[in-house]
Amino acid sequence: MKFTIEGKEGKARAGEIQTAHGSIPTPIFMPVGTVASVKGVHQSELEEDTKAPIILGNTYHLYLRPGMEILEQAGGLHQFMSWSSNILTDSGGYQVYSLADNRKITEEGVKFKSHIDGSTHFFTPESVMDIQRRIGADIIMAFDECTPYPCDWDYAEKSMEMTHRWAHRCIEGLEKSPVRYGFEQAFFPIVQGSVYPDLRERSARFIADLDAPGNAIGGLSVGEPAEEMYAMTEVVCAILPEEKPRYLMGVGTPANLLENIARGIDMFDCVMPTRNARNGMLFTAEGTINIKNKKWENDFSPLDENGYSYVDTLYTKAYLRHLFAANEFLGKQIATLHNLGFYLWLVRTARARILAGDFYDWKDELVQKLNRRR
Ligand code: GUN
Repeated sequence: MKFTIEGKEGKARAGEIQTAHGSIPTPIFMPVGTVASVKGVHQSELEEDTKAPIILGNTYHLYLRPGMEILEQAGGLHQFMSWSSNILTDSGGYQVYSLADNRKITEEGVKFKSHIDGSTHFFTPESVMDIQRRIGADIIMAFDECTPYPCDWDYAEKSMEMTHRWAHRCIEGLEKSPVRYGFEQAFFPIVQGSVYPDLRERSARFIADLDAPGNAIGGLSVGEPAEEMYAMTEVVCAILPEEKPRYLMGVGTPANLLENIARGIDMFDCVMPTRNARNGMLFTAEGTINIKNKKWENDFSPLDENGYSYVDTLYTKAYLRHLFAANEFLGKQIATLHNLGFYLWLVRTARARILAGDFYDWKDELVQKLNRRR
């Protein structure tokens, strides 16, 4: 993996990641395709309409279903899902805590029950690295513990130190597990430390010293106020190396993306644009829309004049409202394409503004409008 910074404005960076599966302009937002599917969106629409150069898959889900045997028989996740661009897999470090039943965490690893059939499984840093080798994503994540919020300092420290020991075990595990599909996989370790600046600093130094191809920040957007999240990314970005991509996991709203780009983050993922779309919430540059609202019943204006996706100028608000009222699949599909189109437009435009040198003015003006309800 190669990362080049093409321009900077303040702490914000415009760059490019290159892997065996193509180029990723940064800052970038990665649509979430948990179970080898970005819910409701065809691969061709993702590629040609939203122009997503990378999507995210989840180790936890893929390991449980379809399972490693099927994925290996298919020739890896790219082949299995007919997606020739980039993939990043999260390690399950977050999902075992948020989804699995009866999880028990020890120094050795995490024992948990599947949320699908109740069967018992055990993840260790080593086994998760081997699983991610078999899935075959371009970027693979360390197995960590995502601390909840709130979380007291003592627990946050203990957990962070274990995440650090696990990071070493991940690196050793990776060396022992062969590359399966003939291309390099870039390993990103994860900074933890909850909302404590002293812990975040310690964790960022530890993670930076591992000298991995890229670095991630976890344990944020778990219920803390946005200002606390921004304070943590500021502390961590001051320490993580400039010349490597920085990935803020599980974030966030459009305003969260812009504020974190302003602090030096290059990569994001979040279920928000896709999940909220399925509930009828549209993100726009003028604020959010609840398309189920009666006020859109006879609004025959385009979904969005700005045309982030082809659906924006093809369909009207009244039509999309009707599809939601009638509980038609197509409604969710259209809303998802719009939201992903908007998120990808947002990061593309942020990149162009950084290169043009007027990112901060643009960001400050847009952030005022993004959180409004229309
Ligand atoms: N996704 C969102 N937050 C986290 C985190 O802290 N760890 C991992 N592995 N994934 C995440």
